[in-house]
Amino acid sequence: MRFNGKTVVVTGAASGIGRAATLAFAAEGATVYAADIDEAGLAKTASASNGPIVTARCDVTRTEDIKALMDRAAAETGGIDTVFNNAGAGGDRAPIDEIEPEGWDRTMDLLLRSVAFGIRYAVPHMIGRKGASFVNTSSIAAIGPGYSPTAYAVAKAGVLHLTKLASADLAKYQIRVNAVQPGFINTNIFTRSLGLTDALEAQAKGAIAAMSQAAQPIARGGQAEDIAQAVLFLASEAASFVTGTSLIVDGGITIGPRHSWDPAMPDLFDALQQMAEDGKA
Ligand SMILES: NC(=O)c1ccc[n+]([C@@H]2O[C@H](COP(=O)([O-])OP(=O)(O)OC[C@H]3O[C@@H](n4cnc5c(N)ncnc54)[C@H](O)[C@@H]3O)[C@@H](O)[C@H]2O)c1
Repeated sequence: MRFNGKTVVVTGAASGIGRAATLAFAAEGATVYAADIDEAGLAKTASASNGPIVTARCDVTRTEDIKALMDRAAAETGGIDTVFNNAGAGGDRAPIDEIEPEGWDRTMDLLLRSVAFGIRYAVPHMIGRKGASFVNTSSIAAIGPGYSPTAYAVAKAGVLHLTKLASADLAKYQIRVNAVQPGFINTNIFTRSLGLTDALEAQAKGAIAAMSQAAQPIARGGQAEDIAQAVLFLASEAASFVTGTSLIVDGGITIGPRHSWDPAMPDLFDALQQMAEDGKA
């Protein structure tokens, strides 16, 4: 019960990573303010737990919604201990030579501006709370190309930099700020971004799991609970010396090319050694 008596705010709590984190925080004693635009999904999250979960409609692209959420959580419980700035979606899929200003701005508002103001409006309610901290959802897409569309990746790289800058700004209050960088996690984000029908959703999730198994040293599809556990660690007392950093949770997909971790895949050095041996023979 690492979060007994704590107040935690989670955005994007109706589905996937946010839902898993909400349930995990509540299972460890926190009162969780679970926020999302999907009210039916929020109700399902709340009914899956015996813990105290308060659902709140909040569109994180609207700063007035974010402020109202933070003010309400603090007014009802006396303050805020942890905020998990997590809500998101795939954003505009266009490459940089085709993207329109509206799509770019929409993506930045949803994925980056939302985190900035999730911090901005929670801080006044966190000052003086022992162990207060933020966890922000970035992505392995922040590392470089190949994991997501361009606007999404740039926004998630911005989340990493914001995390560092905010950790410096808030050090005067002893408020920690960290990020988590999920790899491919089998949630609704892929199917929703592409507008897949419910009928195709199970098939799409199967394809994502199969791809993950083929591309990662840890040969299974990532689950929302894998990320939730990392988030709880970063928010907990066990991470009291950790700030301004980010935890990659990706089954190892970013550690390097397949031949670096799979002995069954010959690499250049194997080929050169073979050449040398053939030359001697
Ligand atoms: N699934 C992955 O592989 C993956 C990888 C890296 C990062 N992420 C990030 O993790 C976070 C959670 O995504 P997920 O995979 O759980 O997806 P998901 O679709 O299962 O959940 C996202 C939630 O955010 C909510 N949301 C969307 N727009 C919102 C808005 N304007 N205001 C409030 N809520 C809103 C959705 O309704 C949904 O409940 C996102 O920031 C995403 O970019 C996901």
